[in-house]
Amino acid sequence: MNQYVFENIADQAPDRFTVLEECYDPVSRAQLMRTGVGPGWRCLEVGGGGGSMGAWLADAVGSTGQVVVTDVEPGRMHDLRHRENVQVWRHDITHDPLPEGEFDLVHARLVLLHLPQREDVLPRLVRALRPGGYLLLEDFDCGHVPVLAAPGQSEAALFERVHEALMDQLRAAGADPLWGRKLFAALTAGGLDGVSATTYAEAWRGGETGVRLHHANTEQLRARLHARHVTEEDLQAFWALLQDRRFAVASYPLISARGRLPVGRPEARS
Ligand SMILES: C[S@@+](CC[C@H](N)C(=O)[O-])C[C@H]1O[C@@H](n2cnc3c(N)ncnc32)[C@H](O)[C@@H]1O
Repeated sequence: MNQYVFENIADQAPDRFTVLEECYDPVSRAQLMRTGVGPGWRCLEVGGGGGSMGAWLADAVGSTGQVVVTDVEPGRMHDLRHRENVQVWRHDITHDPLPEGEFDLVHARLVLLHLPQREDVLPRLVRALRPGGYLLLEDFDCGHVPVLAAPGQSEAALFERVHEALMDQLRAAGADPLWGRKLFAALTAGGLDGVSATTYAEAWRGGETGVRLHHANTEQLRARLHARHVTEEDLQAFWALLQDRRFAVASYPLISARGRLPVGRPEARS
């Protein structure tokens, strides 16, 4: 059974995708461009969410290329369905069949962090690559989100307490909030060549786009947070703080780790 807690059918999903698109798509696009992705490439976008990265890849590979975009709940990818070089699959990356030796590029952003089976999924993604193909995995390191400014100490403490309860809830569902910092080692252990990684973070000020991610996430898990002793009053104060211009928090650092399946050694380690 899929344990992903932020299901796409929820009302908060569009807000989540807006933040991810506005704050992180430029970073991901720059990382993808470093692979040289271009006309004729065959790409796999795993857990495509709102579909913005799949759409960008479709433009990059053009009419001679193809992009397969998967998701357990692909209903939010409105912009993708009319594109001739895109296939959208309702697909669970933990166990549904996946072609092997097929893709020039496999990309997954903020998917494996959530999956208890992440260490089994990674070799599946490697096996999906053709020799010389690139794997780009991007995940958060949720262990570094310091409050950068707050109206007072009690407000900073409130943010930290609610955020920690959210992380507890993710861990209880099998997520690894620190998975981003483990990507470099995981790709190396997966047998990829030329593994590299970059980290991106910025300040998110109250009232701006980025903090809407914290609002969407805590609102969607409201009932579970109540069960973790975060009261409705706490949440109301937390959401008010997210609108306060005196408040700022570091964004989740996005770790982008990239490696290449060696040419001449098509059998990836499992
Ligand atoms: C945090 S969202 C990230 C969406 C998108 N990759 C992005 O960065 O904007 C995680 C996505 O992974 C999808 N997902 C969760 N579990 C999955 C699974 N087992 N197989 C495929 N997709 C999954 C979710 O439905 C959701 O769309």
